[in-house]
Amino acid sequence: MHRFAFVNNKFICFNKANIHIEDRGLQFADSVYEVVPVINSKLLDFDFHIKRLKFSLAELSIKYKINKKNIHIIFKKLIKKNSILNGIIYLQITRGVQSREHVYKKNLKPTIILYTQKKKFNMPSTNYKGYKAITFPDIRWARRDIKTTSLLPNILASNFASKKGAYEAILIKNNIVTEATHSNVWIIKNNTIYTHPSNSDILKGITRKVIKKIIKDEKLLFKEKSFTLKQLINADEVFITSSGSLVTPIIQVDNKKINSGKIGKLTNKLAQLYEQQIQ
Ligand code: PDD
Repeated sequence: MHRFAFVNNKFICFNKANIHIEDRGLQFADSVYEVVPVINSKLLDFDFHIKRLKFSLAELSIKYKINKKNIHIIFKKLIKKNSILNGIIYLQITRGVQSREHVYKKNLKPTIILYTQKKKFNMPSTNYKGYKAITFPDIRWARRDIKTTSLLPNILASNFASKKGAYEAILIKNNIVTEATHSNVWIIKNNTIYTHPSNSDILKGITRKVIKKIIKDEKLLFKEKSFTLKQLINADEVFITSSGSLVTPIIQVDNKKINSGKIGKLTNKLAQLYEQQIQ
């Protein structure tokens, strides 16, 4: 069966999908993206992802008018055409095609690319796993709140993690934990849950937003406050959140086991509540 992508207003066979060699997304990473989870063929937090996409486009002055209804229809069609039960939809919008020059021209026609990937998610109900993470210097630019495809520092950190047998690289800036290469980072100490405040140092994760709401509803102790590398290493529990990893426990950071290398109780509880909500 064919796998489909959607490129510039057309559904096209995945293997035949292509873009121009002078697309600014390719040459300059002059583009933004979203990763939207699909669980049991249903889209998760679609409205939140569209809202963040609009923010990213506006911050970079990429003139693409989002038609939410239309994008929703395309997403649903792709899920159906590609028989996605569990997976992600990847959506990228580039500034468009132009003869190579740093300065961009007005009125370029943005390129829009959409496709799906099947994925097994890490969830408490089925073989829930905790992973190792390593720490790595956060050498990214100062606007991490914009979801751009300018991800080279993340790629380098992520590959370093992979070489060390770790699932994620947790990024450290001036001794403070910002986030990880493709997820937000949380710690739990004495039953209080901490995560970095949402400012331009991190991406304001959608999963983070949903978990914050669960924490509030459950009246758990929570501080949106940055924490140090030392606090990370000495935490009772550590977990990460993202559209790809959902709520994933971290049971080792560098050489230090967290919670004796076992998934923590509170992490498990949050992951269970999250799973109930998305099923
Ligand atoms: N990454 N921080 C960074 C740097 C990210 O790249 C992501 C998501 C997150 C979590 O955001 P959300 O909960 O909205 O997925 C935080 C996606 C999944 C990726 O690049 O594949």
